Amino acid sequence: MKQPKVENKIVLISGGTSGVGKAAAISLAKAGAEVIILGHRQSRADAAVAEIQRRSNNPLIWAELCDLTLHSDIKALHERLIDQNIRLDA
Ligand SMILES: NC(=O)c1ccc[n+]([C@@H]2O[C@H](COP(=O)([O-])OP(=O)(O)OC[C@H]3O[C@@H](n4cnc5c(N)ncnc54)[C@H](OP(=O)(O)O)[C@@H]3O)[C@@H](O)[C@H]2O)c1
Repeated sequence: MKQPKVENKIVLISGGTSGVGKAAAISLAKAGAEVIILGHRQSRADAAVAEIQRRSNNPLIWAELCDLTLHSDIKALHERLIDQNIRLDA
């Protein structure tokens, strides 16, 4: 299957701190995407960012904390992304 071009694209992955989400983040980071991972625990988010950066050799990885069960957290995340002028491609 043909892979979409993700170089220089900004991709947000919910559940990106472990499991299938982290695996997808590593794959996209290796392909050159800038990756934002979502989790809801700081320690796991920090560890995942370090691991994804190391395994992909891509420094453009960061985490945002957001409890997806809370509308207030989702709204706050949305506002942070807009405030930072982050353009999400996927
Ligand atoms: N693994 C598989 O083979 C497989 C196959 C088919 C479908 N799925 C489905 O895919 C999903 C992920 O599976 P997984 O095995 O990768 O799970 P996992 O390793 O337990 O990953 C869960 C992820 O979701 C995040 N998360 C959990 N509760 C959250 C909340 N309230 N707000 C924000 N983030 C939250 C966790 O963040 P924290 O690190 O902060 O806790 C973590 O990043 C599940 O719905 C599962 O049913 C998995």
